[in-house]
Amino acid sequence: MEDGPVNLREFQELAKRNLPKMYYDYFSGGAEDQFTLRENVEAFQRIMLRPRILVDVSKIDMSTTLLGYNMSSPILVAPTGSQQLAHPQGELATARAAAACNAIMVLSFASNYSLEDVASTCNAVRFYQLYVCSGFLNKLFGPLFDTFCLRFHCFITCSFEQFLQVFKRRDVSATLLQRAERNGYKAIVVTVDTPRLGRREADEKNKMIIPRNSNLEGLISVDADLTGGSKLEAYASETLDPSLSWKDIEWLKSITKLPIILKGIITAEDARKAVDAGVSGIVVSNHGGRQLDYTPPTISVLEEVVKAVSGAVPVLLDGGVRRGTDVFKALALGAKAVMIGRPVVYGLAANGEHGVRSVIKMLQNELELTMALAGCPTLRDITRNHVMINHERP
Ligand code: FNR
Repeated sequence: MEDGPVNLREFQELAKRNLPKMYYDYFSGGAEDQFTLRENVEAFQRIMLRPRILVDVSKIDMSTTLLGYNMSSPILVAPTGSQQLAHPQGELATARAAAACNAIMVLSFASNYSLEDVASTCNAVRFYQLYVCSGFLNKLFGPLFDTFCLRFHCFITCSFEQFLQVFKRRDVSATLLQRAERNGYKAIVVTVDTPRLGRREADEKNKMIIPRNSNLEGLISVDADLTGGSKLEAYASETLDPSLSWKDIEWLKSITKLPIILKGIITAEDARKAVDAGVSGIVVSNHGGRQLDYTPPTISVLEEVVKAVSGAVPVLLDGGVRRGTDVFKALALGAKAVMIGRPVVYGLAANGEHGVRSVIKMLQNELELTMALAGCPTLRDITRNHVMINHERP
């Protein structure tokens, strides 16, 4: 792109110029003090590279596989909701751009275009991200059900309440899984760091409006659309199930043939539990610093998780990846691949499908150059010895 952005940070500046403040704040913001948001990026800058010289790098091969699917590089598109706020073509544009770059897109549960629309826009390997949610009984009985629960709350036995909870979320989540399977999605990425929404103060100040979630139409009672007022609380309480626990992973596995990847693990303890639960992959993620503030930057806990998993399943990382050197660093510390969230949305806001394509290509090109300069002709050549960590601030 002539005179266009020369790096991912410049895409962010372009997006800021193109978007209304409310939407830019929604995409760029993090939780509370935004410590984790900043650290995700800055922690990469405390890792140095140890290149090897006099290696034949006349050919660089960035290709790899994930769960048996080929990718031209170890870069995926992370699930980010409400992409129509960035561009009218939203997730459709992102899906086409990802397909053109042979990058796997993880479609967000909170997409504006339905998972069917996205599946039919182009042929490519895609994953679907799920929040285990509720809403069935509310849809049927609406306010009556809420009143009943409020008034008779003290008389409802615990087990009956639990029964309702389970019943509610099983219906909606199972329907979404079936639709994802029917429409050719190849894996389910279950996000597990969001029992409730983190506090994003900019959204509060801006009175951020919750846009339409096409995947939930007819499934939940909250009518959320672009023209409505903010219904964040009601929406979150129907779409996020705070009672989700390890036993539900077993249940999810029992109702889908698709591999399940857990997104949002940042400790060795949980990584081991995930492997024991039989998942097919892990994403080391703190939700791009949008959930629990003061969690460590993902790149600083990657090694801990990789060691705990000891090769049983692929480990991915997201959060703060802005350079090809960042991808290289994550791979050196044991990631199978990385996902990018905000840069894709900024590309979308900057120039629709072309913008997203430029963002992914730019990162792929940067990785290729990094591999050449570091003396690593293939991804297998990237080792722990190629990086030097200084997580402490100077
Ligand atoms: C997200 N993320 C996210 N994650 C998820 O599992 N489901 C979702 O619907 C969303 N939605 C969403 C919206 C926006 C605007 C952002 C910025 C992020 C988190 C996302 O998948 C990923 O973890 C982070 O974005 C990675 O960090 P970077 O690349 O944005 O720094």
